[in-house]
Amino acid sequence: MNKNALIRATALALTALSATYSIADDSVFKIGLILPMTGQQASTGRQIEAAARLYMAQNGDTVAGKKIQLIIKDDTTIPDVTKRLAQELVVNEKVNVLAGFGITPSALATAPIATQSKTPMVVMAAATSSITQASPYIVRTSFTLAQASVAMGDWAPKNGIKKVVTLVSDYGPGIDAEKYFIERLLLNGGQVAESLRVPMRSPDFAPFLQKVRDQKPDGLFVFVPSGAGAAVMKQFLERGMDKAGIKLIGTGDVTDDDQLNDMGDGALNVVTSHHYSAAHPSATNKKFVEAFQKANKGMRPNFMAVGGYDGMRVIYEALKASKGQGGGDGLLAAMKGQIFESPRGPMFIDGQTRDVVQNIYLRKVQRQDGQLHNVEFDVIKDVKDPGKTR
Ligand code: DHB
Repeated sequence: MNKNALIRATALALTALSATYSIADDSVFKIGLILPMTGQQASTGRQIEAAARLYMAQNGDTVAGKKIQLIIKDDTTIPDVTKRLAQELVVNEKVNVLAGFGITPSALATAPIATQSKTPMVVMAAATSSITQASPYIVRTSFTLAQASVAMGDWAPKNGIKKVVTLVSDYGPGIDAEKYFIERLLLNGGQVAESLRVPMRSPDFAPFLQKVRDQKPDGLFVFVPSGAGAAVMKQFLERGMDKAGIKLIGTGDVTDDDQLNDMGDGALNVVTSHHYSAAHPSATNKKFVEAFQKANKGMRPNFMAVGGYDGMRVIYEALKASKGQGGGDGLLAAMKGQIFESPRGPMFIDGQTRDVVQNIYLRKVQRQDGQLHNVEFDVIKDVKDPGKTR
């Protein structure tokens, strides 16, 4: 055999081999779900895992003739671990989709892997605007802090909260929340007394809250990541800041449905802006909350759960529509432009930005059926992420 024939023969053999492998692989569709199951953001992992499993229980584990395999990995809330796990899932497990991503640094660390391997990456939790720009393979089903904060920047000054101190977690989503809230507050004639940033890891809110008390603002605007809200609420009340006439406001992360019912009556009447409340009064949401609680010993779904549930839906529907043709690119194309009714309300994956367009609600903590809930009283419809720079 001459050299060219040998090369041809080898190439043919390799093609046959890879065809055999792809036939074998083709019957299974793997979703690599990377979540913080331990560490500071463990509640996010717990909520999203429960939601993903609920979605599968309700919709079956066979889609377009393929068996869906969910592979869950714990990144322990450490971005370097998220990245390593994503690499392993892509290279060893040959996952069809990467999903999850509890915090912004984890999503940003993984973005290059999605790009290099052309693997769609569904961000179900992290919420800094810039994330979707970090890779053309990223699609988001959570929300952005810019989306939620703008609504509060409009509401607060029109409702007597004009002089405000901002207190945010010092990383991506906090910085977005601060920026977009302040921009709108100023536009509406409000005033910023001081802008405080607390460390993302193990924050101690006490010294910051003392500063807020000294400023005597009309309101304190807060963003902290999911799971940290109860600590802020507790210290705010312990210092008697509500009695001093300071109104606690923020994005709905602070009155997180995962913790709200245990915050006590001190949380009553706190107004926040967000995309999801477990008390959202639609038939679709009632069904979702009921099924979620039934499957999880009464645990109430929060905004993280709904990001996970809708993320699974986006993946399932993309697989149905593309029938697995065209690999990662085919799947990604079928994720863009999806429009459906989520437990949160109407939801749209913008084909241009790959980010979620959704309603933002103003909500007030009230008792409903004996439990503390974020009760929606106003809505800004179909809000695009204001934080997109292109
Ligand atoms: C992020 C994390 C959260 O827990 C949250 O509530 C909002 C944003 C983030 O890291 O992007």
